[in-house]
Amino acid sequence: MNIYQEWGFTESPFQTKALEADEKGEALLVGRNSEIIKIQRRLHNPPKITSIEGANGIGKTSLINVAAYKCFKSFLESGNSPVIIPLNKNFQLNPSSFVEEFVNDVLMEVAQALIEHQSQLKKITGNLDTRHLNSWLNSPQIHSYSASISGLFGGGKINAINTSSGFSRSGFKKIVLDWLSELFPSHSSGGVLCVVDNLELLMTSNKAREFVEQLRDEILLSPGLRWVVCGALGVTYSVLSSPRIEGILHDPINIKKIDDECIEELWKSRIEYYAVISEPYMPLTIDSFRLLYEILNGNTRSVLSYSDNYCTWVSDNDQPQTKEEKEEYFQEWLDFESSKIFSSVSSFLRPRAWSVFDKLIELGGETSPGSFAEFGFRSYPAMRPSIKDLEDCGLVTSLQDDSDKRKKTILVTPKARLVHYHKHISNTQE
Ligand SMILES: Nc1ncnc2c1ncn2[C@@H]1O[C@H](COP(=O)(O)OP(=O)(O)O)[C@@H](O)[C@H]1O
Ligand SMILES: [Mg+2]
Repeated sequence: MNIYQEWGFTESPFQTKALEADEKGEALLVGRNSEIIKIQRRLHNPPKITSIEGANGIGKTSLINVAAYKCFKSFLESGNSPVIIPLNKNFQLNPSSFVEEFVNDVLMEVAQALIEHQSQLKKITGNLDTRHLNSWLNSPQIHSYSASISGLFGGGKINAINTSSGFSRSGFKKIVLDWLSELFPSHSSGGVLCVVDNLELLMTSNKAREFVEQLRDEILLSPGLRWVVCGALGVTYSVLSSPRIEGILHDPINIKKIDDECIEELWKSRIEYYAVISEPYMPLTIDSFRLLYEILNGNTRSVLSYSDNYCTWVSDNDQPQTKEEKEEYFQEWLDFESSKIFSSVSSFLRPRAWSVFDKLIELGGETSPGSFAEFGFRSYPAMRPSIKDLEDCGLVTSLQDDSDKRKKTILVTPKARLVHYHKHISNTQE
């Protein structure tokens, strides 16, 4: 049995998956108007690549997806170029990724999106250069390839190339790139939007720089593709510091937590979107949700995830009914949860690590290796063991050390915010 269904929702209003490039994503995204405009402005001013930096869980992927959807929707409504076509998935790189596989994966998705949208593209004339569009859409190639691709893969997702199907890998690559240059003859006609997400998964900024440099020659500059690269922990700044990339990447748009004034809207939009009855049961109140948002310093993913934890905890107990009861329950759960997390880390941390922790929180939860003096150290190597201890306990994250320390970010995690909350509460109670 699903607790949320029992309470009168279709499903959990606290799902932590990124919002997608669709109507639902658009309906649930709140407080990002200025960021959407910034992204759209960059997408409409190629050839430089858009880049986005921001903490994990802050809402980067959701923002890009919805921005892409809005671009496409406005094209469908107005017919004005440039047309930006979103893909059904974003791409990720990891230390064992190969450039060739990656390029292949991208082109597969691109082909799929073009085929999927061909009827919509056909309908639109507007200011688009229809000469190219029509010749592409009416070419015998698209019919035969879309037929063979959907035949081969059962009309579903294309996820492998079968060389016996009559076209080789390189043949396929050429066809898709040709389609793109026919469809989008100039930068101003638009492109298919490809998002490289979570660049920090490459683990070091050197690795990220190298990978993006390789992609630059392979595919980043191909006509008809618009790129967004997205990462956390300062990785996009590191990529930007490569002389080979500098000229082709916009300065990162730094995504911060959404404004406090938008929390109520975030709450309401989800409750309303998922409600099946007019007054579903919800043990969490908006004030408790807001408190959680404050404690977790606006990390949307963690706020949603802990809200869900609390609801699950309630479902195992008696259900509070009045606002006061609900808030009392919430406080009990919060004290229990934060003290549990505190106990799980406290025995591992030496006083020195604790003092780095406290200072880090005091500084807003973010620092870089260059700031060792503020923590009372003579050099970063002297501070490193404390950072490592905090990292091992899951209280901070950072990219692995390498030569580039300029923009490297050391960031506290949502777990650390709960630890701090617990410390703070016990201090004030003493
Ligand atoms: N502006 C927003 N409005 C509503 N929900 C959001 C917003 N930003 C993020 N979320 C929600 O927060 C969670 C994390 O967002 P996500 O985009 O995956 O973050 P990131 O990519 O930065 O790690 C998702 O569940 C998403 O639905
Ligand atoms: Mg993301």
